[in-house]
Order: sequence, then C-alpha cells, then structure tokens
Amino acid sequence: MEMRELGKTGIQITPLGLGCWQFSSAKGFAGKFWATLDGVPATEIIQAALDGGINWFDTAEMYGRGVSEECVAHGLEASGKRPGEVVIATKWLPWRRTAANLLATIDERKRRLGAYPIDLYQIHMPTSFSTIRAEMKAMAELIRRGDIRAAGISNYTVGQMRRAHQALAEHGFPLASNQVNYSLLNRRIERNGLLDTARELGITVIAYSPLAQGLLTGKFHERPELIKKGVGWRKYLPGYRAHGLRKSAPVIGALRQIAGKYNATPSQVALQWLIAFHGDAVVAIPGATKLSQIQDNVGALAFQLTRDELDQLDEVSRPFK
Ligand SMILES: NC(=O)c1ccc[n+]([C@@H]2O[C@H](COP(=O)([O-])OP(=O)(O)OC[C@H]3O[C@@H](n4cnc5c(N)ncnc54)[C@H](OP(=O)(O)O)[C@@H]3O)[C@@H](O)[C@H]2O)c1
Repeated sequence: MEMRELGKTGIQITPLGLGCWQFSSAKGFAGKFWATLDGVPATEIIQAALDGGINWFDTAEMYGRGVSEECVAHGLEASGKRPGEVVIATKWLPWRRTAANLLATIDERKRRLGAYPIDLYQIHMPTSFSTIRAEMKAMAELIRRGDIRAAGISNYTVGQMRRAHQALAEHGFPLASNQVNYSLLNRRIERNGLLDTARELGITVIAYSPLAQGLLTGKFHERPELIKKGVGWRKYLPGYRAHGLRKSAPVIGALRQIAGKYNATPSQVALQWLIAFHGDAVVAIPGATKLSQIQDNVGALAFQLTRDELDQLDEVSRPFK
C-alpha cells in the first residue's frame, strides 16, 4: 500500500482515510446532516476500511459532540488495532471559544478517544475569538506536552493558512495540513491558489466531501427520486437540484465510461483522480453510511488511471474550477 507523509511531520498515511462525520448518531446540529447509520455499526465500516488498507480516521468534536470519536475508538478496539498502529485525526470546535479552550478541552478529546492518541489535531474552521497566532501558540503547547503529535487547520483561506504556517514555525513545528472541500465538482482550491500555496509550504491538502457528498457516485443522476427520499439537508444544495444534476452529468458520464474499462465504479474513479492528479499533494477522506459504500470506496486504492484518463477528467470538470 502506498504511504504518504502528512505534511512534514513524518506521520505516514494512506492516500485515503475514512471520514467519520457519519458516526454522529444524528446528535448535535452538524450530526443531523446524516441519518443514523441504518443497522450497520460504525465498527463494521471501520473494519472494512482497515481491511481495504486504510490506516487513518478523520473525526471531530463537532461530529455528535464526541460520539464519532467514541465510535472510532470502539471500532478500532473491536478490530484489535492497538494504539499507535493507526493514525487518528480529530478537530477542535472553535465556535465562540478562544485559543485557551484548546488547552482546556484536550483532556475531553483524549477521554473520548480512549487509548488512541491524537496524531493530528485540527482547528475545524477559522472562527475562534482568538488570533491565528494565539491558536498556533496553543497548538505548539499541546505538541510540546505530548497531547498531540501534529497540528492542522481546516477551511482556512490561503492567507490564513500562510499565517498559521508562519506562527507554528516560530515555535519550531510544521503545519501538517489544511482540510478543505475538494472534488471533481468543487475545484476552487486550484483556482484560488490554496493548492499551490499548500504545496509550496509542504502542507498536505486533505480533501473533504471528495464524492461531493454522494453526487459523484452517479446514484442521484441515475435515480433522482432518491434525493426526495432521504438525503437530509443535501437536497437543498444547488448540486442536487435539476439544473445542478444536469451540470454535473458530463462528469458522471466520463466517470462511468472510464470505470467501465477497469470494472470499477464512478466513485472509485472520482477518488483515484483526487489522490493522483496532483501527485501526492492531496489525500481524501470519503465517508460512508453503508458497509457496501466503504467496500466500494477502498477499491480506489487498487488501480491507477492513466495520464490521459486523469486529463480527460480534468477537462470535463473544468466548469467546476
Ligand atoms: N472539515 C470540514 O469542515 C468537513 C466538512 C465536511 C466533511 N468533512 C469530513 O470529510 C468526510 C467526508 O465528507 P462528506 O461526508 O461531506 O462527503 P463524501 O465523502 O463526499 O460523501 C459521503 C456520502 O456519500 C454517500 N456515499 C459514499 N460512498 C458511496 C458509494 N460508494 N456509493 C454510494 N454512495 C456513497 C454516503 O451518503 P448516503 O448513503 O447518505 O447517500 C456518504 O455518507 C466526513 O466524514 C468528515 O470526516 C469535514
């Protein structure tokens, strides 16, 4: 299995991780985005991710107010994985808080994750009451104390990412990653300079919503009635409206055509593109609500698209840049 370095931290991760927002049990505001898992315990999804070669898990305080973190710990325990054998990424919720809260709440994060240490601690969004400098000072303190191995950010703009990188470097630590929305249907980071800057600074881009929350699987194009049935808030997003589906149809068509050559699925091809098109600069964290989905998604690690196929997908998804 190919491994990639997370930023310049020395931490080795697989090109795909498992997104664990789906393990929120519909608790809290963000947790309600996904329905409660339908009879499939998170443990089985985690086991399938491990079986498929995935070695890291992305969770957050915000995902069910700690419920997702607990699911990750239980799932790993049930699988027999020992602490240190996998990489854990979680996130601090900066909402209405100052940087001091990073230090005040770290014991709660550790409690939720049980025996599994926090390898990557990310600031979920740039919205705290403190400066980026103060946030990075607190992160450096957590690294020095051994509470976390590395610090990352999420949803930071190019300028905010540069400031975070600089501030953490002053304490002697590299900024590991910026977790942002990136997929064939959202290529903004290629246009606004974020991807180039991350590369220049040696920061890994972690692509969230890599399947555009299910759109890139092609299932909603094939059966639009699924959208009404139960996709929660997603149905209000422009991509799920009739004109949105029409706009993304050529991308789905190309994914299907290429998938046919490999006996693969559109999801696998979409994820392959994301982790291959920019060399090793981007890793992705697809989420899954069903066992079959994670089994499908890990298949993206099992084949490689040709340069022509990568370029064909680049071309057809230009309207989303
Ligand atoms: N930092 C942030 O602000 C932020 C924001 C969003 C997400 N994230 C992270 O990124 C992870 C992934 O992003 P995401 O959950 O927004 O979107 P995503 O990974 O693009 O889509 C996941 C959803 O797509 C559907 N799906 C996945 N694989 C499928 C397959 N093979 N076949 C059919 N349907 C499939 C499932 O939903 P249905 O079964 O319900 O259709 C699943 O819940 C999250 O779990 C979380 O860890 C972070």
